[in-house]
Amino acid sequence: MEALKQRILKDGNALNKSVLKVDSFLNHGVDPVLMSEIGTAFKEYFQKHGITKIFTIESSGIAPTVMTALQMGLPMVTLKKQTSKILSGEVYQTTVHSFTKDINYELTLSKKYISKEDKILIIDDFLAYGEAALGAARLVEEAGAEVSGIGIVIEKSFQPGRKLLEDSGYDVCSLARVSRLDEGIIEFVEE
Ligand code: G4P
Repeated sequence: MEALKQRILKDGNALNKSVLKVDSFLNHGVDPVLMSEIGTAFKEYFQKHGITKIFTIESSGIAPTVMTALQMGLPMVTLKKQTSKILSGEVYQTTVHSFTKDINYELTLSKKYISKEDKILIIDDFLAYGEAALGAARLVEEAGAEVSGIGIVIEKSFQPGRKLLEDSGYDVCSLARVSRLDEGIIEFVEE
């Protein structure tokens, strides 16, 4: 998505070889116009997938996902990150490890918000190691529903997440694919 790439080049800040700060429009400040354009791009890609619901993971996935859900006319569910297991039968939970932050959390979905008939689109802001998206997919599949696609705003293509998701058979659409970062350098995959 050209407008997103231009915005990353203008306002993104590559801190080192692995971290891209985009606090001014995605992770802290949020640009609603850009989020709306992101919603349009995901709609264009996923509109023929028969999706019934869109899932995201708190918190930075929420803004692009709500715009996508609005444009596709679909309900949205935010998966919660709990610090400990909930010992009741009312939720699906799976442990996710964040390599970037070196923490574990329990990704949590209330059974009320999914059924076996659902075809789920999972959207997240960043794809790094793929752990969050794979955890979300595990919850969907544990509920007997289908993962019909994974939408990523910014993919760090030099990290293993994309390959892991594709090797698991998921249809991945990333709107900006970053091939290289270094202090002051941001490069994209040629497409
Ligand atoms: P993974 O899901 O692909 O395995 O990624 P990982 O756990 O390593 O990422 C952990 C958190 O760090 C995620 O946010 C992810 O969005 C974010 N992240 C990873 N790489 C970058 C990066 O280069 N730049 C920025 N800005 N964020 C990155 P989170 O913990 O879920 O936080 P949030 O959604 O509440 O903001």
